[in-house]
Amino acid sequence: MKLRSADWYAGESRNAYIHRAWMRRGNPSDGFHRPQIAIANTASDLTPCNAHLTEIAASVRDGVFAAGGIPLELPVVSLGETNVRPTAMLWRNMAAMATEEMLRANPIDGVVLLGGCDKTIPSLLMAAASVDIPAVVVPGGPMLSGTFRGVPLGCGTDVWRLSEEVRAGTLSQTDFIRSESAMIRSRGHCNTMGTASTMALVAEALGVIVPGVAGTPAPDSRLREAAHGTGRLAVSLVEDDRRPSTFLGRANFHNAIVALAAIGGSTNAVVHLLAIAGRLGVPLTLDDFDRIGSRVPVLVDLLPAGRFLMEDFHRAGGLSAVLREVRDLLDPDALTVTGRPLVEYLDDAPIWDAEVIRSRGEPLVAEGGIAVLRGNLAPSGALIKPAAASPHLLKHRGRAVVFDSIEDFHARIDDPSLDVDASSVLVLRGCGPRGYPGMPEVSNMPLPRKLLEQGVRDMVRVCDGRMSGTAYGTVVLHVAPEAAAGGPLALVRTSDYIVLDVEQRRIDVEVPADELARRQPKTDGFAAPRRGWERLYVDHVQQADQGADMDFLVGSSGSEVTRESH
Ligand code: FES
Repeated sequence: MKLRSADWYAGESRNAYIHRAWMRRGNPSDGFHRPQIAIANTASDLTPCNAHLTEIAASVRDGVFAAGGIPLELPVVSLGETNVRPTAMLWRNMAAMATEEMLRANPIDGVVLLGGCDKTIPSLLMAAASVDIPAVVVPGGPMLSGTFRGVPLGCGTDVWRLSEEVRAGTLSQTDFIRSESAMIRSRGHCNTMGTASTMALVAEALGVIVPGVAGTPAPDSRLREAAHGTGRLAVSLVEDDRRPSTFLGRANFHNAIVALAAIGGSTNAVVHLLAIAGRLGVPLTLDDFDRIGSRVPVLVDLLPAGRFLMEDFHRAGGLSAVLREVRDLLDPDALTVTGRPLVEYLDDAPIWDAEVIRSRGEPLVAEGGIAVLRGNLAPSGALIKPAAASPHLLKHRGRAVVFDSIEDFHARIDDPSLDVDASSVLVLRGCGPRGYPGMPEVSNMPLPRKLLEQGVRDMVRVCDGRMSGTAYGTVVLHVAPEAAAGGPLALVRTSDYIVLDVEQRRIDVEVPADELARRQPKTDGFAAPRRGWERLYVDHVQQADQGADMDFLVGSSGSEVTRESH
């Protein structure tokens, strides 16, 4: 086996001397002949969901060394969902690009990817796919369930719920602030079926996490054990030359989509899976999510669609128990990073708590998944998550109330004179990949205060942005093309009628085509950034239906670097 790192370390040239001399660091004398395993670590104090990953990295490090490899910690760009402005999604592609380049530029034979908070696992996988060196993920795990006044708090979801209660006048501001210190009980990422939980579970279904590991709570000692084992595995991946391109194909994405539906996962998984598939050259389209996933039952009763939290999910049997129930829907040929098919791991995967993980015969929702809508409002597609929507709104015709930007929305939504009622359709534009820029999680717009006070709890909302995986409601999102890219969303006017028909997979505005053609697009909020990453992003980002990756980052450049540094 010739190691990739031998291109740096082998031989007696001056350059090999330089590469070795600075990296000896007390390693064994045969250290440069062993697999060099990077530990791409997104730990950061500013990404609180991932701050514990340095401890996880230590377990990976021990495992790599025990299996005969040389562990090398590589801090990479970290994105804390609750902190970075204007939205972490603006930086996902930058993090992926930076990680890709550092994996390629360094003498590395394989990599263990440590992620957790929403964008971190997607960006790491996009990077690994484009470099195509052996790679495996250790997910940081969800936090334990916090409680406030005896009631469990779902982080994310309950922030939205409690803040809406304050606006509706059913919870005092004082009590709302009191709940703050109970929201984050421990290390780990959000404990609902939000994007972080979803992406860890979907990555396991995809085959890039050792089966049975995703969903292990961050403080659980079994996660460190799994990290140790994954470090060992990484060494054998190099020895077997098991790179992403050797085992990740359409069958893996098929299984990921089935899993996404069965867990009732976040809509954000759609843009992330499309982007990862794009890096691998796997043909995957928006319609695959509807075709493969929309008839799959939701079996997991977790917030935001249900009642429980990730700690309960793990106790109840985790992803393997869910997948065992839908085994007949999985592609049996899809291999995991261990070299064994995913389905082989499902033989002994019982449900331990049938309240949390339902059996196939008693699903939470008979048909879950994500529906892909098209129509004159979304020619390239839009999404809705029917399981998180109100059944009575899945077929709806209502008067549009249009907002040109999130600032416009905030300025007017609680204005008592706003002409809106429960049947109205709230339309928010200027929130797509180009328009914001970065496609923020704003599509689940808060309802007008005066309607909340009347007891209204859901309305049809339409937006070219995303929504938090912890959010819920009848929200049509990821509308493509977005308004700032010339999509018809820019042509809608307040008082137009919008028709949503989820069963028919339609979202239309009732305006004749010739009149729409005469209208001037409204893209008030959009001004092209002048410099830096934002400018590069706006010039090159693709639309949501293509995964919102940069056009020049689609595909792979492999791992070869032909020129020396000296
Ligand atoms: Fe990091 Fe929710 S804020 S996972």
